[in-house]
Amino acid sequence: MKTSAHATSRTLVKDAHRATAPREHIHLQGWVRTRRDSRMLSFVELNDGSCLRGMQIIVNATLPDYASLMQRSATGASISVHGQLVPSQGSGQRWEVVARDYTVIGEVDAAYPLQKKGHTLEFLRAHAHLRARTNLFGAVFRMRSRLAFAVHEFFQQRGFYYVHTPIITASDCEGAGEMFNVTTLDLATPPRTPAGEVDYSRDFFGQRTSLTVSGQLEGETYACALSNIYTFGPTFRAENSNTSRHAAEFWMIEPEAAFLDLDGDMQLAEDFVTHLIRDTFEKGAEEMAFFNQYVDKGLISRLEFVLTRPFQRCSYTEAVRILDAATTHGRVWERDVKWGDNLQSEHERFLTEEHFKSPVVVHDYPRALKPFYMRANDDGRTVRAMDVLVPGVGEIIGGSQREERLDVLLSNLGAHGLDAHEYAWYADLRRYGTVPHSGFGMGFERLLMFATGMANIRDVIPYARTPGNAGF
Ligand code: 4AD
Ligand code: MG
Repeated sequence: MKTSAHATSRTLVKDAHRATAPREHIHLQGWVRTRRDSRMLSFVELNDGSCLRGMQIIVNATLPDYASLMQRSATGASISVHGQLVPSQGSGQRWEVVARDYTVIGEVDAAYPLQKKGHTLEFLRAHAHLRARTNLFGAVFRMRSRLAFAVHEFFQQRGFYYVHTPIITASDCEGAGEMFNVTTLDLATPPRTPAGEVDYSRDFFGQRTSLTVSGQLEGETYACALSNIYTFGPTFRAENSNTSRHAAEFWMIEPEAAFLDLDGDMQLAEDFVTHLIRDTFEKGAEEMAFFNQYVDKGLISRLEFVLTRPFQRCSYTEAVRILDAATTHGRVWERDVKWGDNLQSEHERFLTEEHFKSPVVVHDYPRALKPFYMRANDDGRTVRAMDVLVPGVGEIIGGSQREERLDVLLSNLGAHGLDAHEYAWYADLRRYGTVPHSGFGMGFERLLMFATGMANIRDVIPYARTPGNAGF
């Protein structure tokens, strides 16, 4: 038996709060959130980020060096405390720690930006390297970690294999031209072709490459071998849209399943979203209660509602009819919508928040709006696409059944102005044992916005990359 207090290993605050009996020795390490001094003792709130709550440390004035220790224990200082875990005298917590040995590890200088008063989200974005030390961002990023785990859990339980698709790629999956180039060429004097264009054949990869906008195409090749796969990785889009829901670097989850049609795909998407929300209720109750109180008072009731009722489904054509009817009843839009137009965020929000008042899956979009790989319907005008729209966020998932017919795929490539040569490997899947298959992509940050009520994508990713901003 070790008897020295110093020999006890560190306990995390979240485990200390779960104690069922007092403990003679406990060792905590963390950062000072607040300190309150009275005549004979000080109360120091230690937070180590392991959970929302901190631990109250009682420091008696009889401790050696008491005055100097407390003077150095300002908000933000790091401390190490050995002491006794005892039932709390105060209200609001079960346990507190009476310090026996108290050390200041790192002092904090007077410029520490996080003081007790509340800070705006803008201020905290400018201090992104420190914001995880606040209650709000601690909660967001614990939630992010837990949900990432739940993503894997969902697919692993269903027999989906995790595939690592490349980050550097030569193909533009979405065909939208929103790619960040990857090059080692000297931008001031790049090699040029006789025609005067940049000669990428002399670049690092011998061809023009970019950061991936989606792992789908490579994912399809693995689904057509392992049957059910998913990817979960960083994704890049050089969209110059400064909105609260777009980031230039975000994390996407892309399942892909062979022998699955669009109906099955929509069901998979619904099961996935509800699994993640249920997991949040089960394992993130403390954070949920916090978000519901401080971020979005309707959060819990909205998410509970999502779990009680199947997602609504509605074709694009039907959606346009609903929007039309709303216009007829006096609804005014920033941009009107007619068949063939992209649904704008305001339309998507109307459908999910006001019309259906629940998550809704819109399917069978006009062919002209969608990428080359989506399966054409017999009507010649629409493709087997689907988007999942949720209240408060709008589009959280986009997916489709894939075109498995070689001739149709090749003609689509042509119609989209893509070089069939570059997509030869993708077309091969349709030559060698083609199968109907489907998949979708979920923006992990969009999911987090939905699950936390946070209104800006910049506040659910540790270091946001948006137009004009790549700090930290
Ligand atoms: O709808 P998208 O563009 O679909 C695809 O990329 C398909 N290849 C997916 C597939 O079928 N495997 O993107 C999928 C999702 C969107 O619904 C959205 O949640 C998220 O990715 N997303 C973004 N999230 C944050 N910032 C951006 N700029 C995003 N662009 C898309
Ligand atoms: Mg989309």
